[in-house]
Order: sequence, then C-alpha cells, then structure tokens
Amino acid sequence: MKHLLSVDGLTGEDYERLFVLADHMAEVNTRANPKVPALRGRTVCSAFFEDSTRTRLSFETAAKRLSADTLSFAAGSSSLNKGESLRDTLETLSAMGVDAFVVRHRSSGVPEQLVRWTDASIINAGDGWHAHPTQALLDAYTVRTRLGGTEHLRGVRVAFVGDIKHSRVARSSITALKALGADVVVVAPTTLLPPAPEHLGVEIRHDLDEVLEDIDVLYLLRVQSERITESLIPTLREYSSRFALTPERASRLDEGVIVMHPGPVIRGVEITVDPSSLAGSAIIDQVSNGISMRMAVLFDLLAGRGAETAADLTVNDEEGGR
Ligand code: CP
Repeated sequence: MKHLLSVDGLTGEDYERLFVLADHMAEVNTRANPKVPALRGRTVCSAFFEDSTRTRLSFETAAKRLSADTLSFAAGSSSLNKGESLRDTLETLSAMGVDAFVVRHRSSGVPEQLVRWTDASIINAGDGWHAHPTQALLDAYTVRTRLGGTEHLRGVRVAFVGDIKHSRVARSSITALKALGADVVVVAPTTLLPPAPEHLGVEIRHDLDEVLEDIDVLYLLRVQSERITESLIPTLREYSSRFALTPERASRLDEGVIVMHPGPVIRGVEITVDPSSLAGSAIIDQVSNGISMRMAVLFDLLAGRGAETAADLTVNDEEGGR
C-alpha cells in the first residue's frame, strides 16, 4: 500500500498483516524506552483542517516512536488564511521532504484529491462523513485483541448505536468488521440513518432495548451536532432516553459484552453511566491500541516490506538503526 484512504478494498491478508504489525508495536510500547529506529530519516506531517484530540496526537506519538521526524501543520495559523490554495500548500510542504501526510478535513474526498498533487503517502485521518480508516483498523484490532484472535471476529454480533448518518467512524468500522466476518446491526432513529441504509448491508433496528441482550459488542456513537443542520431529533434528552447507555441498560448487558466509543464521549447524551465503571469498557484500550495500529500503518506504508521488520523493532532507538 502507498496510501490509506479508506478500508474499502483491504483484503483479509491486509488486515492480518496490520494486526500482526500492531501486535509488534504494542510490545514496543510496553518497553521502558518505547522507541525504535524503524522510520529514522522519514518525515511525517500531520495536516489537520478539522479539530482532533485522539487521532492527531496518536499519529504524532506513533511517528515519534518509530523515530520519524514530525511536522505539524496548523491550518488555522497558516498561509491558507492569506488565500493560498490547498494544492499550493500541499506542494510547499511536499517540497520540504515530507514522506507521508496524515490528513483530516471536513470535506469528504479531500485525501483522495491530495494523492494527485504529491508523491508522498496520504493517510486519511477522517474526511467529512466519508471515512476514518485508522479508527476502523484500531476498532477491529481492539475487538480482535479482546476476543483473543482474528478468527473470533467471525460471527461476533456488533451493534452500532446512534448517529450513523453523519459518522465516518460507523461507515469505516462497519466495513472493516463485516469484512472480518462480524454480524453488524445498526440501532438508530430513522432520521439518523443514511438516505439508503440498506446499502450498509446490515440489520437495521430502532429500539436499543430489543437488541441489548443479544450482542457481543456495543459500539456507541456521538451525536455529531456540528454536522447536523436540521432538526433530526426532538431533543437530546429524548434521544438519550431511547439510545443512551444508561445505568439500567448497562445492568442488562451480559458480563462479556465489549463497550466501545471512538471518542470524544459526550457524557449525558450517548452514555449516562461512568464508562470506567463498566467491566467490558474498551474505550481506553481503543486509545492505546490506536497508537500501536497507527505505528503499524506508518511502518507498513513507509518502511517497505520484508526482513527488516523484526530487526527494526527489536532494538531501541539509541541502540542503532538503519
Ligand atoms: N475518534 C476520533 O477521531 O477522535 P478525535 O476527533 O479526537 O481525533
């Protein structure tokens, strides 16, 4: 792979390669000095045109742990404000020797467009309502890790609850989990489903209470208020009463149910119980697995395949490198 624009088209082999790489990276991350020389000499630029906490810091941490040089492009204080085009901005940054751009943009399709304007790798860190491939990979990796192996994903029943319509996370994570054999159900009010929900290829339900006792993974989504331009739900209070994970609903979950959320969590809306009080919560694991998976993606795109993998990851940074 040169770019990672979406999870569409990833094969079972691609997923497994990235999962195994992420396992190696997770081991690196347990070391006293969690830094390896694998990407020494490479430069990774994060270019975020929309807000982020987890994805931006996770990619920057991942790149640093692989010893890449990092640049952080801040759109809000850049020459874009003086009228420079996105294309000229990208070409300028490319000329500084960037090997990979990690791009988040409020408009769907921007990462795909950028591929035409640079020789560097483009990694989609979330574009509009469209895709968030590394979130999908870290989500699938988190479920796989909890269940003890990729083979256990087959037949696992995953419920995505909430604002499916505006969620690039839902679109990407549903695609990834389905590709790995999971049985996906979406639970949402009709107004928060995409226009042709049957194209998701999943079971569609409107009542969380009906599915709660028949699932292995409960994936809560944030109501994307910043993308909602019309009145799609009567009130957040009514939404919560029907779709939030409340203490009462949490008490009805089977002990082994994995509870996930991509963050940011809006307490009191999609969840009214303290997530840390839930035995099955994987929300914090998603964050730490995100670093391992993003290290895996950067390594896969930038280091090249083959025999160097083991050597590059077995030494700490000060012990040597390529
Ligand atoms: N999950 C996610 O993309 O979070 P951020 O918006 O904080 O990056």
